[in-house]
Amino acid sequence: MTAQETFEVRVVTKTAEAEGIASFELARLDGQPLPPFGAGSHIDVHVPGGPVRQYSLCNASHEQHRYRIAVLRDPASRGGSVGMHDRVDEGDVITISTPRNHFALHPAQHTLLLAGGIGVTPLLCMADRLARTGADFALHYCTRSAERTAFAAEIAASAMAPHVHFHFDAGAAEQKLDLAAVLAAPGADKRVYVCGPAGFIDHVVTTAKGLGWAQDRIHLEYFGAPVQDTSGDEGFEVRIASTGKTYAIAPDVSIVEALRGQGIEIMTSCEQGVCGTCITRVLEGEVDHRDMYLTDEEKAGNEQFMPCCSRARSKLLVLDL
Ligand code: FES
Repeated sequence: MTAQETFEVRVVTKTAEAEGIASFELARLDGQPLPPFGAGSHIDVHVPGGPVRQYSLCNASHEQHRYRIAVLRDPASRGGSVGMHDRVDEGDVITISTPRNHFALHPAQHTLLLAGGIGVTPLLCMADRLARTGADFALHYCTRSAERTAFAAEIAASAMAPHVHFHFDAGAAEQKLDLAAVLAAPGADKRVYVCGPAGFIDHVVTTAKGLGWAQDRIHLEYFGAPVQDTSGDEGFEVRIASTGKTYAIAPDVSIVEALRGQGIEIMTSCEQGVCGTCITRVLEGEVDHRDMYLTDEEKAGNEQFMPCCSRARSKLLVLDL
C-alpha cells in the first residue's frame, strides 16, 4: 500500500548511461503533461514482478513531458534494480506515483552538491536548476571510474559544466575529492547537499560537522538502507493505543509485517526505512531506530519512528494507531 496517488506511464526510452546504469524516460499514456516536480523529488516505481522502489527524478524540473530516472544494477538487489534492468523495456507500461520531495533545494549564497555514484540523480536536477538561475554552486561527482560515470557527456555539454568536478576512485591522486578543502568554509549562507551510498554520506556529514557546518545546512538523501546486523534481535510487544490490544513481534519479523498479519495495515512504500511513508507516533517505550529518514535529533526525541524497519529497546512499544 502506498500513500501516493499512482498512475501508469510508458517507458519512452531506456538508455545505457554507464557500466551497470540505465536511464528510463517516462511519459503519460495520453500525452498530457505529468504532475510538476521540484529539484530533489523522487517517485515510487512499481517494479514489474518486484517491490516498490524510490528513484529520484534527474531531468530538468521545469519539464512536464517526461520524468527521467536512472537505476544502478545492484548485484545485491532485493528485486528492484535487477527488475528494472531485466524486465523493463522501451514501450512497456509501468505504474509510478506522483513525485514527492524530501530533499528540496533551499535558497543559498553558495550551494555544494556532493554526489557518490548513482546518488548524482537528484543532484543533477538541482545542478540544472541552479545553472538556469545563475546561482553560485559546485557539483562534486565521485565515481569509481569514467566508465561508471553516468551522464558525463550530458553534463559536459550543459550550462552546468563549469560548476562540475569529476572525481574517480581509480584515477590519479590529485583529482580525488579533497573533502576537507571543499567543506573548509562553512557559513550561514551556504548549504551542502549529499546523496549516495551510506558510507559516502556518513563521511561527508562527519567531515562537515567536524569543520563547523550546522546540522540544518547539511541536507542528505540515502540510496537504500545499509544492511543491518539483525543477529541479536529479540522479540517484544506492540500495543495499539486505540484498541488497547497487544501483539507479539517475533525477532525475525518487522512490526509492519506482524501487524499486517493481524489485519492492521500501516501505509508503506520502501519498507527499508528510507522513504518516510510508514512514520508512526510512539506514545510509550523506547525505539531502536534503524531508518535513514529521521534526523539524529528526531530519533533522540523518541516521538515517532519507522515501523517497517525499526524495533524496540523496551519490552513494549505503545503506538498511536
Ligand atoms: Fe519507507 Fe517505512 S515504508 S520508511
